Amino acid sequence: MADFVTVAKVTDVKPGQMRSFAVDGKRVLVANWEGTFFATQDLCTHDNGTLADGELIDGEIECPRHGGRFDVRTGAVTALPPMFPIKTYAVHVEGDQILVAVD
Ligand code: FES
Repeated sequence: MADFVTVAKVTDVKPGQMRSFAVDGKRVLVANWEGTFFATQDLCTHDNGTLADGELIDGEIECPRHGGRFDVRTGAVTALPPMFPIKTYAVHVEGDQILVAVD
């Protein structure tokens, strides 16, 4: 099981925002959906678009390249063209720090 590592402060990702952070050589997207933090891979499974440049809409991450969508909680595809889900990572908030377990 992966260890939790600090990736950001809670103030770094405002409600409705998504930001990308480097964790152990991987790009990790941290999203703040209605005050709860979620983390996923920051790479669209359709054509490797950077999801952090997209929008967070009703709990779905919309890829800026072709409009594919993923459920921010589960990584499941909710709108084509992507065919495969994105990875999600466990998130833990400790004080003002956001920690993510990236495998
Ligand atoms: S690269 Fe994300 S929908 Fe095409």
